[in-house]
Amino acid sequence: MTRYELEDRLLHGGDYNPDQWLDHPEILEKDLELMKKSKSNTFSIGMFSWSQLEPREGEFHFEWLDKVMDDIYSIGGNVILATPSGARPAWMSKKYPEVLRTNDKREKMLHGGRHNHCFSSPVYREKIAIMNQKLVERYGNHPALFMWHISNEYSGECHCDYCQANFREWLKNKYGSLKSLNDAWWAPFWSHAYSDWSEIESPSSIGETMVHGHNLDWKRFVTHQTIDFYEHEIKDLRRLTPEVPITTNFMADTHDLIPFQSLDYGQFAKHVDVISWDCYPAWHNDWETTADLASKVGFINDQYRSMKQKPFLIMESTPSGVNWHDVNKMKRPGMHLLSSMQFIAHGSDSNLYFQWRKSRGSSEKFHGAVVDHDNSEENRVFQDVKAVGEALEKIKEIKGSYKAAKVAILYDWENNWALNDAQGFSNASKRYPQTLQEHYRYFWNHDIAVEVVTSEADLSKYDLVIAPMMYLIREDVMARFASFVSQGGILVSTYITGYVNENDLTYLGGWPQQLQEIFGISVKETDTLYPNDRNQLRYGAQTFEVKDYCTILELGTAESIVYYEEDFYAKTPAVTKNNYGQGQAYFIGARTGLDFLEVIYDQIAKETTLANSWVIKGDKEVSVQSRDFDEESYYFVMNFSESNKMIEVASESLDLITNTSKDCQLELKPYEVLLLKLKQN
Ligand code: GAL
Repeated sequence: MTRYELEDRLLHGGDYNPDQWLDHPEILEKDLELMKKSKSNTFSIGMFSWSQLEPREGEFHFEWLDKVMDDIYSIGGNVILATPSGARPAWMSKKYPEVLRTNDKREKMLHGGRHNHCFSSPVYREKIAIMNQKLVERYGNHPALFMWHISNEYSGECHCDYCQANFREWLKNKYGSLKSLNDAWWAPFWSHAYSDWSEIESPSSIGETMVHGHNLDWKRFVTHQTIDFYEHEIKDLRRLTPEVPITTNFMADTHDLIPFQSLDYGQFAKHVDVISWDCYPAWHNDWETTADLASKVGFINDQYRSMKQKPFLIMESTPSGVNWHDVNKMKRPGMHLLSSMQFIAHGSDSNLYFQWRKSRGSSEKFHGAVVDHDNSEENRVFQDVKAVGEALEKIKEIKGSYKAAKVAILYDWENNWALNDAQGFSNASKRYPQTLQEHYRYFWNHDIAVEVVTSEADLSKYDLVIAPMMYLIREDVMARFASFVSQGGILVSTYITGYVNENDLTYLGGWPQQLQEIFGISVKETDTLYPNDRNQLRYGAQTFEVKDYCTILELGTAESIVYYEEDFYAKTPAVTKNNYGQGQAYFIGARTGLDFLEVIYDQIAKETTLANSWVIKGDKEVSVQSRDFDEESYYFVMNFSESNKMIEVASESLDLITNTSKDCQLELKPYEVLLLKLKQN
């Protein structure tokens, strides 16, 4: 059994940068003492240590890392050892400028920052292969080695000649002939047809970006090339340490906390053993409620859990504030425990931090850390971290548990790219990821578990699949929708669905036939509204406001359950329901607020067994998430509000965090979190 498999603790600790403190042995000594005191057990090391590991070309220094590995082992800790490709030493940039990126304007980037390396550069590939081989040979059998952390937050793109050549190769493999490429890209448009492969270049912001198939293929290529580089990095690690799991830290897009936009993580996930990600919500901000933000955090955690249908890791989070939000506010008392437990509640087996010790200089010297410049265990942040460490020890029996959901929301990266590129509708109001998060919000409000999956997922295990705004929809996805619904599933889709195929070419002959059959309607027109325009929907005796998009529909076999109230399409269907085979397909033609989604999903939840039957009387700001083993169920009850809350649940329980018994009436203080253990019978 590997160290990873044997580990029965939840992971607590984080990014440790001893390479910044090698001249301060007393600090490194103190770190070990504080690691133990903070109940930390796992450290990610080496992400940015290339200039300490190889200060001059071919001159390697591993002694310091040997000592760090041994020291962490001596206190019973795990090491997640990183490959250092996220930042390269200056000698390399100077001697081999090809390792640096060229931006889309074809400007060569200069040395500086990090994440500034070309994924195609043969020299960079050669150098990282040498480094990674040395790391695996030296530490592959080290007893502290727990997991490989490949590079850091892979992202970005390069437009150098190597990348252009690789892009052309990738296109040749994909299309075989220029004729097929020109057809797929609708290239005669504005005279873009190519007569030789060498004419093709990556899209540039100072050149032509109007050929949508070209843009979409470039984005696919960037994902491909990033994964190709990652695969290159792990070759020797896989070969020499097949039993050590491999991860790389994924991200979210930050201000809005929506899924990461520029890489198709659905594809990348297939190549990693354990999903891990870095989560930095702006708690206590001034533009949304704590519950609004908590729901978005929940969405992305659910997405990462769903990728492999097993527990994931939080690789980075902050114990207090960060340094790169517009305003870097500290966590209020109670928030650190609550936000840490939320990760675990959605399926993480860790809460790891960036960073262990606050650096003394450079851009992250004011970023939150477990150990501050005061080097003390007395301050509030250290005490908060220690409290999380103690709580994780008390609840460690949940490690490895999982909760399968009956509801899936489909997130499709290619659809998002194509929709953002589409010149039509309104660029400001497309908001595909945010729309998915609004639909998710109903389920979060009602404590119903959700998985967030790609359009390649096996849908048969779900009762309800929600696929809003599937502007780009492949024929095989339509076929899988058809078989899902015909076998008894419930499918919900919305406005701006069914426009283009995988090449971003529109479907011809009206709304795709297969969608017409599934939904029992045909889409005639989509009206895009100005930001201040409103329409109304009538549903029974209630009316609901509509904004941004209104689809004009023609009924086939579907029934209309909601009508428009205004404009030239007043009294025509806005929301429809169709019986198709054993199941039903709902089409929400207009963009509504959460008020209408609450009503429609309430109806769907009543017709199925989706509702969380354990919560008798919930509260929209108190989130309940469960994790299960076959015999046991655990419920996290989390108050994401600034006031006291009461909820009622179906059974008595034991709170593992405080070791106290709880009856069915649960009273929660602001930001309070409970982890309740139930016996299933
Ligand atoms: C992450 C990165 C870390 C650190 C952190 C600060 O994106 O991986 O190295 O910079 O942000 O929040």
